[in-house]
Amino acid sequence: MGAKILNGKELAAELRREIAEKSDALMAENGVQPGLGVILVGADPASASYVTAKEKACAAAGMYSEDVRLPEETSEAEVLEVVGRMNRNPKIHGILVQLPLPQHISESRVINAIDPAKDVDGFTPVNIGRMIIGEPCFLPCTPHGVIQMLLKAGVETAGSHAVVVGRSNIVGKPVAQLLMRKAEGGNATVTVCHTATKKLADFTRQADILIVAAGRPETVTGDMIKPGAVVIDVGVNRVPDATKTKGYRLTGDVDFESAQESAALITPVPGGVGPMTITMLLHNTLESAERAAKH
Ligand code: GUN
Repeated sequence: MGAKILNGKELAAELRREIAEKSDALMAENGVQPGLGVILVGADPASASYVTAKEKACAAAGMYSEDVRLPEETSEAEVLEVVGRMNRNPKIHGILVQLPLPQHISESRVINAIDPAKDVDGFTPVNIGRMIIGEPCFLPCTPHGVIQMLLKAGVETAGSHAVVVGRSNIVGKPVAQLLMRKAEGGNATVTVCHTATKKLADFTRQADILIVAAGRPETVTGDMIKPGAVVIDVGVNRVPDATKTKGYRLTGDVDFESAQESAALITPVPGGVGPMTITMLLHNTLESAERAAKH
């Protein structure tokens, strides 16, 4: 059949232009420049490259960013101290602690320390609770980006069967919540599959919209997809490849070649969901700064 490609890069570029204009206007009219504080602990190369991409995107959108990169052996108390400083810094409207953190640091203690008013990742219990009960909040960036892509592509979520593969706090759980919300881009019937699901293909084949965030390459192949389905691949995996200059290639959680034979619409990796995640981070940072400017 040959699926249509849902290009996240183009949509992200369009949205980032709008965000940059609003950011400039906020500076011109209120003297407030949106600011993002980024904390990275350790030397994981993938995390470091995400953080660099986030900072570049901030600069391109006319935003201020402050970058604290700490060595692997940094104590939890030191990380909490940096979070506290950013909570009190009026130049910073959004705080992002890149996950995962090293084993000896409690992710939940660090996330809980972020002021919910600056939680532009939407990871604090306060924001997650608000999202679930439908109160205004910062929506988590990757799930929000997925919904924006579906909306932009004109995909009807209402009444559709959305199947989510993966139950992480960052993607699987929140994207399932957003798809079932009584709101635009929601009203779907949602099934969540995970590592304990038996006969995964029996579920994925029922999906009108299939969201794959399993964290494992090629979890979903073409034979697991209903003909005409919309497939969103949230996975980013570095697979060793000696023919590439970096020694690896990026691949999603979906086997793109076989999947695009069954799907009607599919996101590529790279260039699909990834650029939208950063875009929604900028969106939330701008929103936080706009709120601060009103006070
Ligand atoms: N690690 C993987 N995805 C994310 C994300 O969206 N935000 C943060 N802070 N860490 C991540």
